[in-house]
Order: sequence, then structure tokens, then C-alpha cells
Amino acid sequence: PNRAEVLINGSLSPAVVDRSNESIKHHPAPSKWQHNQTLSLKIRKHILKFLDAEKDISVLKGTLKPGDIIHYVFDRDSTMNVSQNLYALLPRTSPLKGKHFRTCAIVGNSGILLNSSCGEEIDAHNFVIRCNLAPVQDYTRDVGTKTDLVTMNPSVIQRAFEDLVNDTWREKLLQRLHSLNGSILWIPAFMAKGGKERVEWVNELILKHRINVRTAYPSLRLLHAVRGYWLTNKVYIKRPTTGLLMYTLATRFCNRIHLYGFWPFPRDQDQNPVKYHYYDTLRYGYTSQASPHTMPLEFKALKALHQQGALKLTVGECE
Ligand code: CTP
Repeated sequence: PNRAEVLINGSLSPAVVDRSNESIKHHPAPSKWQHNQTLSLKIRKHILKFLDAEKDISVLKGTLKPGDIIHYVFDRDSTMNVSQNLYALLPRTSPLKGKHFRTCAIVGNSGILLNSSCGEEIDAHNFVIRCNLAPVQDYTRDVGTKTDLVTMNPSVIQRAFEDLVNDTWREKLLQRLHSLNGSILWIPAFMAKGGKERVEWVNELILKHRINVRTAYPSLRLLHAVRGYWLTNKVYIKRPTTGLLMYTLATRFCNRIHLYGFWPFPRDQDQNPVKYHYYDTLRYGYTSQASPHTMPLEFKALKALHQQGALKLTVGECE
């Protein structure tokens, strides 16, 4: 589509393309960034043509039964069976049913959060979304603690909890799950093969220890729908990252969306090194060729939306 079509069909104005090279100041003057309510509503409406976060945030009990066979979204030739435990943990109604929040924070995992002092600001939002069970305990000053929804790619069990090889790691995961204290635990269980056992381990732990979390397992159509939305807006992502997924979902139930910890670059704007994750030793390059993600491209799109007031991206210190 040409530019005019994007403007008509899409929620992103041509400014998405034109202004994306402007840099975000480390300390943007508060008066400079202004929420653009009209644009936010337009984006919500457009995204609703592709997906409905209220529905797509989780498969519900009524739609599956134990023993059902599911083809993985990205590995169509591989299948999994819906286990008794998975079935037991499917929600009966959407955890977002009828929900609306004035302000939401989405906390990405970039090392840009270190020394940001953003914890208090993040915790002041009405709804806080975090990614991949990222730890908060030792980082509260910079990342806060409030958690209303946290995602968990099955690979996290391998990467951050050593595939539960012994009791120590099992205990660590248990503690992390206990600390979630009633929040939504969002597990993409049907995306890629290979996570099967990990999802089952977590499900089993939750049931066995009666952990107080509200589990959600995204719908089979969510990822393609999210990708479709962004492709339509000329953001040519391969596979949306957790962070972009969360933003796309949040547009449905959040009036204002603030992003923290989104910075997929090894250096900050003053050329100081930035860790890939604020809490571990994973390196950049991990996201390069082999990865299905296109984080810098996503970032460019989010930055453009920041500049138009549809969302607020914080990439420096909080006041
Ligand atoms: N993120 C970022 N910059 C980084 C690291 C993360 O912008 N240096 C954002 C991305 O949007 C990412 C989110 O924070 O999706 C959460 O980080 P991570 O847990 O690494 O995300 P995943 O997308 O799940 O990455 P992976 O598939 O590699 O696990």
C-alpha cells in the first residue's frame, strides 16, 4: 500500500516513517511528551480488527478438553495433548474480562533499567506487566515490584531455572511463583515445540503447591494476528517479541501505556554499555541472525509511536 492507504487503513500516520530518526532525550522534559488520546483510541480500534485481547489473552476451559491435540503455532507438524493439569489451569473466563485501566506499565528486560530509579514510577501505574518471570527482588529501586501480569516463555525454565535439575532450582522457581501473589501468569504453551515438559513442570508445581496465580495460555491465533497488525502498518517483524505482544494486547484495556526496559542495543545514547537483560549475563547477538525477533525494528516503531504520543517510552532515568 502507498502512504495514503496506510493512513486510511492503519492507525499509524505517515509520521511513523518520517520522524523515527529523531532521538529520544535521556530526560525528556515532562511538557514535551503529551498523550495523544485520539491516536490511542484509533490504534485500539484498528488492533481490534486483528485480535481481541480480552479473548486472545487465553484459551478458555470451554474450548478444549483433556486429550485434545494441538498443533504448535510455529511447528505445525508437531503436536501436543492437552493434559489434565493444563486443562485444570485453563481459566473459565478471560482474566481481562471487562477490565480497563487508566495507566499501564509494560516492563521490558533491557539493562537500560539499571540505575534508572524507575521502580517507584512503575509501581504507581494501575496495571503492571512484566516479561519472562524477570526477577524484581534485588532490583526494586530500578524496576519496582508491582506485578499484575507476568509472561513466561517455556525457555525461561531452562535459562533461568536450570531446567529444575535439582531441588535448589525447583525451590527457586517455587519461590518466584509464590511471590506472584495472585497475578496473571501468562504462558505461551502452544507456540513452539520443545517447551512441552517445561510447561508441564510449571503446571504441576502450581497445582501441587496451590500457588496463588491466575494462569493464562494465549490463543493459537494471537501471534499471527499481532504480526498481521504490524505488517499492515509496514513494520516488517518476523515474530513479535514478548514486549511487542504485551503492548499490542495492552492497547485494548489501558488508556495510557508506558514502556520501560525497551532498549535492544548494546550501548546507550552516551555510548555506555547496556546489558541485554538487567538481571543476567545473556549477551547481545543472541538476538541476531538466528533469532526470530527483529527487536530494533520493533523499537523504531515504538519510538515513532512515542513521538506521536500514543505511548510513552522511557529509556533513561525517571525523575
Ligand atoms: N527488550 C528490549 N531490549 C532488550 C531486552 C528486551 O527491548 N535488550 C524487550 C523486548 O520487547 C522483549 C522484552 O523486553 O520482548 C522482554 O525481554 P525478554 O525476556 O528477553 O524477551 P523475549 O521476547 O521473550 O525474548 P526471547 O524470545 O529471546 O526469550
